[in-house]
Amino acid sequence: METSIKVVEGVHWVGARHPDLKVFDDLFPTRNGTTYNSYLIQGTEKTALIDTVKERFSDEFFNKVSEHIDPSKVDIVVVNHTEPDHSGAVAHIIEKNPDVQIYCSKAGENFLKQLLNKPFNAVNVNDGDEIDLGGKTLRFVIAPYLHWPDTIFTYLVEEEILFPCDAFGAHYCPEKLFDDEINEFYSDFHFYFDCLVRPFKDKVRDALKKCEGLPIKMVCPSHGPIRRSTGNFAIESYARWCAEPINDGRPKALMAVLSSHGNTRDMANVIATELKDQGVDVDMFALSDMRDDDYRDALEHADVLLIGTPTIQRDAPPHVWHALSLVSSVTPKSKLGAVFGSYGWSGEAVKMVEQRMTGLKYKLVAEGISFRFTPTKENMDVCRSFAEQVAGAVLTEE
Ligand code: FEO
Repeated sequence: METSIKVVEGVHWVGARHPDLKVFDDLFPTRNGTTYNSYLIQGTEKTALIDTVKERFSDEFFNKVSEHIDPSKVDIVVVNHTEPDHSGAVAHIIEKNPDVQIYCSKAGENFLKQLLNKPFNAVNVNDGDEIDLGGKTLRFVIAPYLHWPDTIFTYLVEEEILFPCDAFGAHYCPEKLFDDEINEFYSDFHFYFDCLVRPFKDKVRDALKKCEGLPIKMVCPSHGPIRRSTGNFAIESYARWCAEPINDGRPKALMAVLSSHGNTRDMANVIATELKDQGVDVDMFALSDMRDDDYRDALEHADVLLIGTPTIQRDAPPHVWHALSLVSSVTPKSKLGAVFGSYGWSGEAVKMVEQRMTGLKYKLVAEGISFRFTPTKENMDVCRSFAEQVAGAVLTEE
């Protein structure tokens, strides 16, 4: 049976490995499984756990804790984040010790109430709050949306260790736990960031600002290897990936277009030419042949999103819906948008896409236009007016 692993004196990893996991949360594929990291911190006065594990791994978790202390004697559980892969064993700890103190954010307490559906002894923490366990001081950093609204980081002052829960983690189940004992796992680290953290780049910047000046020797995330020698590399990577977009001059339109017979593309070309004439650059994407990551990058830099869609069988094609589904996976620079397209029979797609964009909190800056079959010269004049309206709205926002 696997045992706990010493991190530093008085700090042990008591988590669980899940090497066979293929898809995390039924959403994200994992190439190398994952781990659920929990840490036991023992001071001379008190003992605390930083997070727990997914509920089905509770037995092995408690076995590891029991190597050091009777689990019913644990004084504090810090819930950095309430998602059940980390809070799954909290209910069992409360059963063993109803007086155990649960340190968490206010949002974390609210979430836990409805996750546990039983009373518990919550202690809300704020930025800079500390608890002294006896020679081991835990300091808290509120880091909302990394990646849930409840997230906090915990910093072990004497050892200069940051416990950031999901942030800086990776779905990667190594044979050994420390980064300096295993092969490189950068691609898993980056993929995990893309899936979980990328939509919250501005929140990452806020959290990193709060951690500025904090000496950090080690980063102990809740998934994947412990960064004993590359903690600062992980932090610097997040800082680089989440840097503010550079304003490189003229505003930019992201134009995502699907065109079965070339008519919507012809409209797109006329609109693009007029936009450029008006002072707005255009990034054109063919939705039938785009890399999601390129499109996501473009969303983060575009001042307006234009969708060109035909109507196929009374709907917008799946590529269009997919492109819209990616909006919530990033922080778009702008939420200005407009829709256009050609159709053959019924022509519902433009209105349907407008509704979806409105649902995604886009402000439509020009009324959608749709023309039947081949656009006429008059139709193309309307396309130019449409582009003028879009450009006007974008340039006003600048
Ligand atoms: Fe690993 Fe957001 O839970």
